[in-house]
Amino acid sequence: MVFKKLEAILDGVRDEIACLATVACEVFHAFEGFHWVGFYRVTEPGVLMVGPYQGGHGCLRIPFERGVCGAAARSGEVQIVDDVNAVQDHIACSSSTRSEIVLPVVDDKGEVVAVFDIDSDYPANFDAVDHYWLGKVCTLLSATCYRAEANSE
Ligand code: SME
Repeated sequence: MVFKKLEAILDGVRDEIACLATVACEVFHAFEGFHWVGFYRVTEPGVLMVGPYQGGHGCLRIPFERGVCGAAARSGEVQIVDDVNAVQDHIACSSSTRSEIVLPVVDDKGEVVAVFDIDSDYPANFDAVDHYWLGKVCTLLSATCYRAEANSE
């Protein structure tokens, strides 16, 4: 089970890039049909910049006003899109994307510091179970690389 594996691998790891890259790799390879798994980080107010990911090219810069990633970042709420073609605001990085989930990642003050974006080749590929476990992965990141003392250890 990928969450338990990540919990073990990231135990004691505080480096942001190491954590995000490892999560992207493990989740990408654990599930069939996920063709893009990765992170966009808040690098300046209102701006998401692509971070560690697995899959094809991901667009580099997404303002909070745009796309499903932007919606997750500005609302702080998980976005599940069963059919990306039905969402006008969806930013298409790959024409094979049919559905996606985007989860906010927060620091220990509750501020959104990144979003976790997963795109699937299958329609409606994300349900409450994915929401739950991927949410636990985001909480794990809040407790590892996004802990306040993360950079001082
Ligand atoms: N899915 C995102 C765009 C990023 S790529 O899919 C990697 C969105 O619509 O916000």
